[in-house]
This record gives sequence, structure tokens and C-alpha cells, in this order.
Amino acid sequence: MKTPFISRDELNKITAKFPTPFHLYDEKGIRETARAVNKAFSWNPGFKEFFAVKATPNPTILNILKEEGCGVDCATDIELQMSKKVGFDSSAISFTSNDTYPSEFIYARDINALINLDAYEDIAFLEKTAGLPDKVSLRFNPGGVFSLGTDIMDHPEESKFGMTKDQLFQGYRELKEKGVTSFGLHAFLASNTVTNDYYPTLAAQLFELAVEIKQELDITLDFINLSGGIGVDYTPADQQNDIAAIGQGVQQKFNDILVPNGLGHISIYTELGRYMLASHGHLITKVIHLKDTYRHYVGVDACAVNLLRPAMYDAYHHITNISNPDGAIETVDVVGSLCENNDKFAKNRQLPQARIGDILVIHDTGAHGFSMGYNYNGRLRSAEILWQEDAKAKMIRRAETAEDYFATLYGFDFEP
Ligand SMILES: Cc1ncc(COP(=O)(O)O)c(C=O)c1O
Repeated sequence: MKTPFISRDELNKITAKFPTPFHLYDEKGIRETARAVNKAFSWNPGFKEFFAVKATPNPTILNILKEEGCGVDCATDIELQMSKKVGFDSSAISFTSNDTYPSEFIYARDINALINLDAYEDIAFLEKTAGLPDKVSLRFNPGGVFSLGTDIMDHPEESKFGMTKDQLFQGYRELKEKGVTSFGLHAFLASNTVTNDYYPTLAAQLFELAVEIKQELDITLDFINLSGGIGVDYTPADQQNDIAAIGQGVQQKFNDILVPNGLGHISIYTELGRYMLASHGHLITKVIHLKDTYRHYVGVDACAVNLLRPAMYDAYHHITNISNPDGAIETVDVVGSLCENNDKFAKNRQLPQARIGDILVIHDTGAHGFSMGYNYNGRLRSAEILWQEDAKAKMIRRAETAEDYFATLYGFDFEP
């Protein structure tokens, strides 16, 4: 059973004040998860979680994570600017980009962010555009398939990210010759994993590589970044990951592989997005239409603009009808208003009867939810609201307005 993190009464108070749709975040849950992650890796003195800003790029959320001791990982100069503005120390900002603009490397160097290079070719590009920093991390792509036992998790050979093993070794060699003194290794090989084995398996692979790098190149890495990829229980059938067990699993590999090879000083970094935030966000939406044809449709005031994952990946997001939890069960498609037939939050889903005006809670939208928004059909991005620890709701981003949408257009008197 998945239940909302907020009661019906509390949510009614919030919807009376703030119009739907909006994303609602649970501050208490975010802090608890950040503490659990930090605790799970506390055996490693240099451990740091660099929250993947792309998951939930809101300064208030980033500030909460900063207060919990996390850093941030940015993919673009805009994310870097936001992180800088929030006040993260440069040592707590990493930059993991790909197909990077020269101006972005220049800005990342300006603010002294930790640069994680996606491509072997980026070494020369970075040197030419912004100069090489003292510390550089390289992103590895082993190719082939990534599997856990007999389960194929992903296909790195089809991924545009990272560099081959030969390129990685050549890269470290050249960086060392060019005077770089501190090195990191990064890999992201599977997304949204719902198993406690992903990180330990990935860690073992990267730890073995660190030993080879030491033996072959006489380079001792300073940090290994396990990146993102830890998933959440989107469906009621999924088992939530156990972060304490995951931390222990990585520690075991660390003790087995790195420590005996004189690499026990290596810091472990993570770059979690989904695991940190997904379950601490709800998309709150209202039923505005009911329609019956070959299926029963429940039309809501949110659409794929507010949450793209179902349309893009056919992803499951649990839905609770918080206004009518005990209603008779019916099989419905829950749909938004876009002129796209994939604008469906649920297909053939069994839900308690939905009535016009009912409030639906779409679960697990706290990561890669609002942030993947767009403006198709001139639909506007929603507000983001924080359900604070003191049980008060605070708007942390207002909804877009027509003026925002028209603001970039010239020549037709849209200008204010
Ligand atoms: C480089 C990088 N790091 C971290 C993440 C976060 O991944 P997740 O949200 O699965 O933890 C992503 C997600 O796309 C990513 O591209």
C-alpha cells in the first residue's frame, strides 16, 4: 500500500490556498533520506552525496540538502549558477556534463567546480577553452551490457555517456603529464535500480579498475563516484531499497578490494537524484472532467507538461484519490489535456470512483518530475510547494503565467 505523506485534511487546507496543479515536497522526508544516505556511508571519511540538481532544481530544496551536508552535481551552467547562488562551497559542486559548451567549461573553472569529463576528447577541449584544473574526474563506460547475476540492467554500449577503458587510461596518462595532480573516476551504468546489489556491483568494478590504474599508471585516485541509479518503489509491488544495506555492500567491496591494495584513502561520492527526492514529492491535481467512450476517462488539471515520465517512458506513478478513498473501484485512464494521446498518468488503472472536484495525489514525483516540464500546447509549468517540517505549506516556486510564456516573443506587442 502506498499512502500520501500528507493527510486529507492538511491537503484540503493547502488546496484551499494554492490552486492545483502543483508539486508538493515533504521537507521532513527529504531530511530523513539525506541523513540515512550520509549514515549509510559514514564508514568512509571522505563520503559526499552530490545531489543531482537535474532531478529537482529548486533552490529551497538544494538549501535543505546543503543543510544536511550534501553537495550538488550540475549538468549545465544554469544549474551551476543556481548552486553557486544557493551558497554551496566550490568543493561541494561537481559538473558532470556532456556535449558541453565552451562557456560552460569556462564558468565551471571560474567557480572552481569539480569537473567530471564525459569524453576523452574533452581533455583537449577543456585545456583549450578553459585550461586544466588540478583535479579532474573521468567518466567510464565499459560497453557491453551491465547485469546483476542473470538480470540485464542496462546496455552501456548503447549509451552516449562516458569513455572506453583504453580512452580512460590514456586520459589519466595525459592529464598526469599535463600536471593534473588529483584524479577521480565516475560511472553511471544503470538507472532506477530496485535492488540493493547495484551499487556494490558497480563499486567492485570501479574498485578493480582503480587498482589497475594504480598498477599500470602509478596514479592513485582520490575519489570514486558511484553516480546515481538507485531507484524507488514506484509501484506497490516494488521493494524499497535499503540504503543501509547498500552502504554496507559498498563497504565490503571497499575492504576486499581497495584496502589490501593500499587504496583505503579513496573517498566515495554519490550523485543520487531519484533516491533522494522522488518519494518526497507529490503532484497534486484536481478532477475536472469525466468522459466515457471505449474507456472511462478521468480528466485532471495536470498534464504531461507537469510530469512527463508516464508519457515519455510509460512509467508507473501510483495515484491516490484522497477525496474519495473508499469509493467503488472503477477502471479508468487518468488523462491530461494535451493534444497527445500519450498524455495519460494512468492507463486501465483500478481506482476508487473519481468525481469532479476530487483531489488526486500522483506519487513519487519529487525527482525528474517538475524538472522535465515543458510548454507544449502553451500549457504552463505549475507551482512548487514545500510542506515544511513545522506543518506549514510554503510556495517555493510560483506557477508560470501567460506573461512568462510570452516574455521571450518580440514584434507582436506581447512585451509588457
Ligand atoms: C550524471 C548523472 N548523475 C546523477 C544522475 C541522477 O540519477 P538518479 O536520479 O537516477 O539517481 C543522473 C541522472 O540522469 C545523471 O545523468
